[in-house]
Amino acid sequence: MATLRLKTTLLEVIHVWRSSLPEKAVARSGAPTKGWNTLINRTQRRLKGTEGGLWTRQARHSRCAVSGGFTVPNEMRAVRVHEVGDASKLRYEHGVPVPGPGPGELLVKNMFSGLNYHDTYTRSGLYPRPLPLTLGTEGGGTVVAVGEGVSDSRIGERVAYLAEGSYAEYSVTPTHRAVRVPRVVSLRHATCLMVQGLTAHYLTKSIFPLGPGDVCLVHAAGGGTGSLVVQMAKKLGATVIALSGSIAKAESAKRHGADHSLVYRDRDGGLVPWLVEEVRRLTPNGEGVHVAYDSVGKDTALHSLACLRPRGALILYGNASGPPPDIAPLALAEQGSCFMVRPKLHDYMEDEEETAWRGAELFGHPEGPHAGEPLHVLEPVLHATMPLERAADGHRMIEARKTMGKVLFEV
Ligand SMILES: NC(=O)c1ccc[n+]([C@@H]2O[C@H](COP(=O)([O-])OP(=O)(O)OC[C@H]3O[C@@H](n4cnc5c(N)ncnc54)[C@H](OP(=O)(O)O)[C@@H]3O)[C@@H](O)[C@H]2O)c1
Repeated sequence: MATLRLKTTLLEVIHVWRSSLPEKAVARSGAPTKGWNTLINRTQRRLKGTEGGLWTRQARHSRCAVSGGFTVPNEMRAVRVHEVGDASKLRYEHGVPVPGPGPGELLVKNMFSGLNYHDTYTRSGLYPRPLPLTLGTEGGGTVVAVGEGVSDSRIGERVAYLAEGSYAEYSVTPTHRAVRVPRVVSLRHATCLMVQGLTAHYLTKSIFPLGPGDVCLVHAAGGGTGSLVVQMAKKLGATVIALSGSIAKAESAKRHGADHSLVYRDRDGGLVPWLVEEVRRLTPNGEGVHVAYDSVGKDTALHSLACLRPRGALILYGNASGPPPDIAPLALAEQGSCFMVRPKLHDYMEDEEETAWRGAELFGHPEGPHAGEPLHVLEPVLHATMPLERAADGHRMIEARKTMGKVLFEV
């Protein structure tokens, strides 16, 4: 563990050092993007009368911009989607324009980009987006430029963030979607936790705040988000009934603290017929669970509902097997005045204050460590790290249910 951390820290030092080198090798000819033009014009205005300004010279001759000691090229490598479909539609391209940070935004030179199920939905067209686009939802790296209204002091900061377009060397993110990563936490660890860790946090602390005496049902509990929901629930004192698709995943859920860990699929991949009965049997007086955290959707939503006790909560937060079926309000009444919600992480990162709170709970305080402060609150399960150009392989792995935890791309 200590060796891994040292290796990661060394890599990060090299990453920051490389980010500050002149980018002649990567800076190609080509028109700067609109965003960069705005930034360059603004800087040129600031430098008016100082014709020898570094930015002006660099921008004119090498088609790159210098910001706070970092040299940013106009073009980069990125994974792009031009038409929706299967994993073969992902294209690793050179010469993609580097986006410019708009007002309230940070430009990040990425070290890691995380693979999330969400990316497969964007790629397949389940979540429609205008095309072409650069794929990705989360990343981790160093801030190399800032947009209007953001203090220059943020340049050089290590952040993990949420933003579309993170399968790339550079991405922009609004400040309220970025978490400052404390010195003692590696970018690898922080990127692993950005979407899945923050999701586990808002599910267990905000939507249905868990506490001692609560019993919760966690689906795909050996998976990326599920394993973190198990850990959060245990830290909050709840009893956890974990469901997984294989023995290996069920054992992993148990290692993360699940009180009961069941394999809910048979050999053919179908749902076991005793699922609801067994879950209810594990709850006090067979009353059912207080809350079901269901990321599987189509295959399991109705079973999750049937596992609830009166006034329980059905949290349908994912579609791993397909979108969940429509559930009529009357079905909630019949189950015992139950609640149902289909939440998404973005709504629980409303402003910088909320994001910083969740980040500090997961990573520790940015200025940490302080005496007694918990660090590395959650231990992400890292399934694999692979180069960004192999993004399509990562998509195939997660869709074939072959992953057990997070897949990270090295940029
Ligand atoms: N709403 C939000 O804020 C939010 C945030 C994060 C993630 N999510 C959603 O949560 C879901 C899980 O995401 P994740 O990143 O944590 O992935 P993951 O759990 O690491 O992987 C998905 C898991 O889903 C299970 N699964 C069940 N049926 C499946 C099927 N037909 N095909 C593929 N997988 C199936 C598999 O576990 P078993 O073999 O154990 O069944 C699989 O390992 C996704 O739908 C994602 O979009 C939502």
